[in-house]
Amino acid sequence: MTPETTWAEVHQHAARLKSRHLRDLFAEDPTRFDSLHWRLDDLLIDASKEKLDTSALAALIDLARAVGVEVRRDAMFAGEAINETEGRAVLHMALRGGADAPSGDDVAGTLDRFLAFAEQIRAEGQITDVINIGIGGSDLGPAMAARALAPDCDGPSLHYVSNVDGAHMADTVARLDPARTLVIVASKTFTTLETMANAQLAKDWMGPNAGAQMAAVSTNLEGCAAFGIPESRVFGFWDWVGGRYSMWSSIGLSLAIGIGATRFRELLAGAANMDQHFRSAPLAENLPVLLAVIGIWRRNAMGCPTVALISYDQRLDRLAAYVQQLDMESNGKQIRLDGTNVKTATGPVIWGEAGTNAQHSFFQLIHQGTDVIPVDFVAAAQPREADPEHHALLLANCLAQSQALAFGRTAEEVAQDMGAAGATPEEVARLTPHRTFPGDRPSTTILHRQLDPFSLGRLIALFEHKVFVQGAIWGVNSYDQWGVELGKSLAKSLIPVLRDGKSAEADRSTNGLVATIRELSRPS
Ligand code: F6P
Repeated sequence: MTPETTWAEVHQHAARLKSRHLRDLFAEDPTRFDSLHWRLDDLLIDASKEKLDTSALAALIDLARAVGVEVRRDAMFAGEAINETEGRAVLHMALRGGADAPSGDDVAGTLDRFLAFAEQIRAEGQITDVINIGIGGSDLGPAMAARALAPDCDGPSLHYVSNVDGAHMADTVARLDPARTLVIVASKTFTTLETMANAQLAKDWMGPNAGAQMAAVSTNLEGCAAFGIPESRVFGFWDWVGGRYSMWSSIGLSLAIGIGATRFRELLAGAANMDQHFRSAPLAENLPVLLAVIGIWRRNAMGCPTVALISYDQRLDRLAAYVQQLDMESNGKQIRLDGTNVKTATGPVIWGEAGTNAQHSFFQLIHQGTDVIPVDFVAAAQPREADPEHHALLLANCLAQSQALAFGRTAEEVAQDMGAAGATPEEVARLTPHRTFPGDRPSTTILHRQLDPFSLGRLIALFEHKVFVQGAIWGVNSYDQWGVELGKSLAKSLIPVLRDGKSAEADRSTNGLVATIRELSRPS
């Protein structure tokens, strides 16, 4: 089958299913949950509340096969330069033993070295606080994981400074003692404007002893040396590790100091477990592939431009921010690998918040707004706290939301409930339209036993490989990010205008804004 014929089949299934309510799909098929959920050990994905059925899913799997997902996956694991626009391999899996590293790149030795450094910092006890200065992939992964693994963080306190807004650094160091703080400058390129500005600020804050209390993580070893960080505190990685795929590398140093070497290795083992599954499971049982094609179904067959990622897990409250970069920087593309324009919509907008907080902010719109917003729920069966009561409340809310989204509440049900509660017929007539839930809103639930280093590694690798599969289906290069360059270079030309008062030679809107900033900056 060709990609064209499989796309056509997917669209035929969508035309068949679009007008079918999820209530009817469940009523017609009592085995729906059985046939639309999949497991890898304790990790479960339930897609039975998506508006698809097994025939539509089979067509989506055919699509993945027809576009060559397996061939491209094998090429990635074999270390071929699948990041064609940058001429690089994509081998972050090698950082966790899920693939072979290019010969000569000492992955195990580098891991041992930065973990030994982490253990030394933990053992000495002199350092009470660690500040990781980085942005994007050099921040979001360790920052997200440090919150996710808070019960495992028994080392120095971890802080993450990313924004070039001086407020971020100022607020972070306000209560810290420079003599007891380790600053890690994390930057793949060691040229990123925000990170280098914050690194300089940190150096000034630390004073004459800065060199001895700073470390660096980068592929640019010369840059680290030029900045004045001693070689013994510089930890490298390789260009085959994309920034947003780098939390497994020495970019994870801050996290390793927080959780220790053993737990960091468990995190890597969890990710390697998912690598192994992704490499070997048949497409129709392959969790990243299944998650990916569900996303393709929502985006391309059902026309949904956004996805809400809601973790019913307070410690995953930065997961949406992390997956946002992973997904949107990878697949926010409109040019295919062959240089032609894509013919389908590509990466959706990913956004989200922890549940139950989300229920009290934007869930109203997801339930009764005019757009259909698919939701990915993430939850753990067991809490880390010895408090089953709270966890039951949390999980009840998670399951209730996906129920409400799928099945809604009909006008008849509302009228019946209101009548039973003693409402007058007038009240029932007036309020029923407002209290009716359309339902038929799709969601997928990802459930695992407990959030710990292993399961977090496995979960993140699941999202990574999902992004890979979707990129392969859309035919884009998920591993470059040229779209962020223009803004960076324009900012460079505006710095002298805003900092040194040079004259602005930009468009009229920008010139007007510059003039107003100058006016408002003058002492009043
Ligand atoms: O925003 C663009 C980007 O290049 C990301 O891909 C990357 O994670 C981030 O900037 C930080 O880059 P670096 O690690 O080189 O400082």
